[in-house]
Amino acid sequence: MLKNTLLTSVVGAITLASTLICAQQPPAGGADQAKAPAGQVDPKSATPVQVADGTPKGQLKDPYNESDAAVVQAGGQLWLNYGCNGCHGGGGGGGMCPPVTNDTWVYGGDDDTLFRLVSYGSQELQAKGYSRIGMENVVGPMPPMGGVVKTGDDLWRILTWVRSKYSGSPECKFGCKK
Ligand code: HEC
Repeated sequence: MLKNTLLTSVVGAITLASTLICAQQPPAGGADQAKAPAGQVDPKSATPVQVADGTPKGQLKDPYNESDAAVVQAGGQLWLNYGCNGCHGGGGGGGMCPPVTNDTWVYGGDDDTLFRLVSYGSQELQAKGYSRIGMENVVGPMPPMGGVVKTGDDLWRILTWVRSKYSGSPECKFGCKK
């Protein structure tokens, strides 16, 4: 009984510690953004949250391709500008937080899921019915970056850069086919 309580509090302390280490930046409050009027979600001017809110689940698609070197380069710069590197490392290979370059995708590897995860953060994503399907070595909450990244277009360019950094097996690039 006492042993159980001790164990629980140790596990609790570890979880808390890794949360503190991993989530250094305060949540950016992405969910509070105003909603875009229906049918008018232009990623060039709308915030990531507006784009995500205004697009039916499963239909967000990266308009860019990693073969476009200018987009990849811009995306890599935005990755640094918006501080994604602080948690995921400059090359995306992980640091205090999970890598974005390997074949483990925590909620799924498709464009739609990644865009929503970064926009809403992992807690709101889960509240919207998504569940964890993969486990990285480091586990922590992904903060909502939808109030930090200025436009949906910026986020697509970042995600295009993320695709260009992928180093896992080809069949898992956009989520493993079961
Ligand atoms: C405070 C630390 C932190 C910052 C800053 C951060 N992330 Fe994350 N990110 C995480 C954590 C932690 C996870 C894993 C979430 C989980 O396990 O629920 C994650 C998950 C991800 C994933 C999915 C990785 C996978 O393997 O499925 C992507 C993609 C991602 N982040 C992109 C970004 C982008 C783009 C930015 C910058 C706009 C960013 N992150 C900023 C902590 C951070």
